[in-house]
Amino acid sequence: MKEKLEKLKKEILDNLEKVKNPDAFRNLEVKYLGRKGKLTKILKGISGLSVEEKKTLGKFANEIKVELRDVFKKTKEIIEGSVGREYFVDVTLPGKKIKKGHIHPITQVQNELEDLFTSMGFIILDGPELESDYYNFEALNIPAHHPARDMQDTFYIDPSYAKASEGKQKKLDLVMRTHTSPVQIRAMQKYGAPLKLVVPGRVFRSEDIDANHDHTFYQLEGLMIDENISIANLTSVLKEMLSGILKQEVKLRLRPGYFPFVEPGFEIDVNCTICTGKGCPSCKNGGWLEMLGAGLVHPNVLKAGGIDPKKYSGFAFGMGVNRLAMMKYGIDDIRLFNSGDLRFLKQF
Ligand code: DAH
Repeated sequence: MKEKLEKLKKEILDNLEKVKNPDAFRNLEVKYLGRKGKLTKILKGISGLSVEEKKTLGKFANEIKVELRDVFKKTKEIIEGSVGREYFVDVTLPGKKIKKGHIHPITQVQNELEDLFTSMGFIILDGPELESDYYNFEALNIPAHHPARDMQDTFYIDPSYAKASEGKQKKLDLVMRTHTSPVQIRAMQKYGAPLKLVVPGRVFRSEDIDANHDHTFYQLEGLMIDENISIANLTSVLKEMLSGILKQEVKLRLRPGYFPFVEPGFEIDVNCTICTGKGCPSCKNGGWLEMLGAGLVHPNVLKAGGIDPKKYSGFAFGMGVNRLAMMKYGIDDIRLFNSGDLRFLKQF
């Protein structure tokens, strides 16, 4: 047994001297010190010897074990040290460029709008994109079969399918919301008056698609309710916001417009920022660009929101964020926003 150990010690030391790389070293470690390693086996065998033999041999074996462990440790340090040298890193070499994404132009405009409105004391809210027929139309003074429904055709969800997924017996008339206006009602019901809010969000229309129309786009809704709110409040807030976003003093033009949820209602134009109102191809030589719909909140809408129209009045507006971004950056096709075309997106 003693000779066996001596022989093994020599074999191990010889091998360790020759070892050059970490893989070979690891193999040696397993071969000799591993659970089924040669040295481990011999050491295990000692427990089967007589007490007398164990006394002398045990001590000797232990010394060899300690010694060899030490040599393994030192060899490891040397090998790992040389590995470090082999993989020398030249920190002066140019690095690998990591491609960075950035915020979508629509989101950039939305963020700017949110900053402008919060600076004027408005809160930012959102609402569901899959909306009930009630909030999207009914509560906004657009009853079923009213011709105004034709202005905003949408994607209707099969009510039986909705029933199954909700597990309710009630018939659910769900639509992809056509505008952000339903959040007006949700907010009035939740917070009451007075109220100052904007709602940025994605909306959907069943639409013939062209350079100016898409089936999925973004709007920003605004609502302000208090005592004695008038059109003067509406125009001053809109002027402040549009001048802020277009980075120049803008002029507004109000034309009568029909939206069932406001009375009176307006289409609001901004002086063309490209020709400053003189007339150019962008504004079709008119000098004005149609920007948003707005008006004073209809009493029926206030009532649907649980607010007393005798005490409170309010203004509301709805603006296409895509259109604003197109105007701000001179983009001529709305379809580019959802195209995922990096050549387009990288410009912003
Ligand atoms: N919801 C309208 C649309 O999508 C836009 C709009 C018009 C919103 C007038 C308003 C408003 O709040 O007062 O066409």
